[in-house]
Amino acid sequence: MSEVVSQKFANIISDFPILTKDISECRGRIIYLDNAATTQSSKAVIDAVDSYYKSSHSNIHSGLHYLSEMATVSYENARKTVADFIGAKKNEIIFSAGTTAAINTVAFGFAKHNIKPNSTILVSGMEHHANLIPWQVLAQELNLSLKIIPVKEDGTLDIEQYEEMLSEQVSFLAITHVSNVLGTINPIKEMVRAAKKYDIPVLVDGAQAISHTEVNVADLGCDFYAFSAHKIYGPTGTGALYIKDGLLPKFRPVIYGGGMIETVSYSEASFLVDDVARLEPGTPNISGVIGMAAALNYFSEIGKEHIFAHEQELLQYAEQELAKIPEVKIYGNAQHKVGVISFTLADIHAHDITSLLDEDKVAVRGGHHCAMPLVKSFGLSSLTRASLGIYNNEQDIDALCNSLQRILRIFKI
Ligand code: ALA
Repeated sequence: MSEVVSQKFANIISDFPILTKDISECRGRIIYLDNAATTQSSKAVIDAVDSYYKSSHSNIHSGLHYLSEMATVSYENARKTVADFIGAKKNEIIFSAGTTAAINTVAFGFAKHNIKPNSTILVSGMEHHANLIPWQVLAQELNLSLKIIPVKEDGTLDIEQYEEMLSEQVSFLAITHVSNVLGTINPIKEMVRAAKKYDIPVLVDGAQAISHTEVNVADLGCDFYAFSAHKIYGPTGTGALYIKDGLLPKFRPVIYGGGMIETVSYSEASFLVDDVARLEPGTPNISGVIGMAAALNYFSEIGKEHIFAHEQELLQYAEQELAKIPEVKIYGNAQHKVGVISFTLADIHAHDITSLLDEDKVAVRGGHHCAMPLVKSFGLSSLTRASLGIYNNEQDIDALCNSLQRILRIFKI
C-alpha cells in the first residue's frame, strides 16, 4: 500500500463521529469490532440524510411540486449509484428494507410461483438464518425438499459434493457470498456456472460481501443478489435487491399498495409488470436510500481495492497476534476470507468474553450469530466474533488481544 493510502487509513476514523468521541463519561471511546453485525456511518452519510430532511424531504414519484421532484431525483439517482456499484443496470435494482426482506421477496415472490413441483432447493450449511428460514418455510409450504451443501473443517464449502448435488431435480440455489461466522468467501462465480448447466436460478446473499470483496453481478452470473446498506456504512432499514433483467415480470408482488398499479377498480387491480415499482409499493425509506448512496460513494471514493487490501493486511495481523494466545481457537480458516474472526477462548462462554471485552471498551459479538445450525455443527452453542471495518487498525487488534489476556487471568487460565 502506498504511503498516501496508508496515511488515508491512519486518519479515516476521523470521518466517523461515533468512533471519535467519548460515548459517555464513564465509557470513553469504543474500539468497534462488530462490523459484521453493523457498520458505523461516516459523516458523509449522516450529512446526506440530514440534508435530505432539512432541504428536500417529500414523498417521491407522486407530487409535482418542487420538493417532491428533488426527493424523486435523489431517490432515482441512488438507484443508479447502487446499480453502478454492483455492475448492474438501473432497472435491475429494487430497494428493499434490507437483505432479509429482499431474500423473502425472492422466496415468496419469485420462487414460490416459478419453481418446479416436487423439486429440491439447495442452500449451504453456512447460511445466516435469513437465507435459511425462508427456504425452509417455502419447502414446507410447497412440499419440496431442502438440501444442505456441506461445510468442510476449514470453513469452506465442499464444492465436489455441491456439484454432485446438482441435477435437473434442483429448482433453486440460495447461497451466501461470504459467511457471517467464518468469513469464507465462497466461489460464487464457479458455483453459478455449475448451477446454470441445469438452468437453476441462483440467489446470492451479499450482506457480508458487499463491503469486503468485489461484487459484480454480471460477472457472477447470478439471478438475484441482496445486500443491506448498514453493512457498508449506510443506514439501517434499507438495502437493495438485484433482479436480473427479464425476471421481474415473473415475480408476484408480496406486498400490495400504492405506486405499483396500472389501474384499480373497487373489485380488482392490475400491476406494473416490468417496472421496479412492481416490488416497491408504499412510501419507501427515502432518507435511507439517499444515505445508502452516500455510503457507496464514500466507499468508492476511498477505493474498493485499497479498502480490501487494508482489511486483508489487518486480518493477517489479527490472526498472527491471536495465534500468540494458545487458548484462542479460530473457526474458519479458508484461504479466501474476509475480516471476520470467530473464536473460542479456552472454555469460557462467548457471552462472558463479550461482556468482559466490553469492560475494556472492545465491542464484539458473542452468540450463535444467526447461524445456529453451523455453530452447532462445531459442537458449540456460541462463538465470539471480532469483525473488521474500514476504520480499524493494529491498535484495535492489540486492545482485543490484551483484553483477552486479561480475561484469561480473571478465569485463572
Ligand atoms: N447478520 C448480522 C450478524 O452476523 C446481524 O451479526
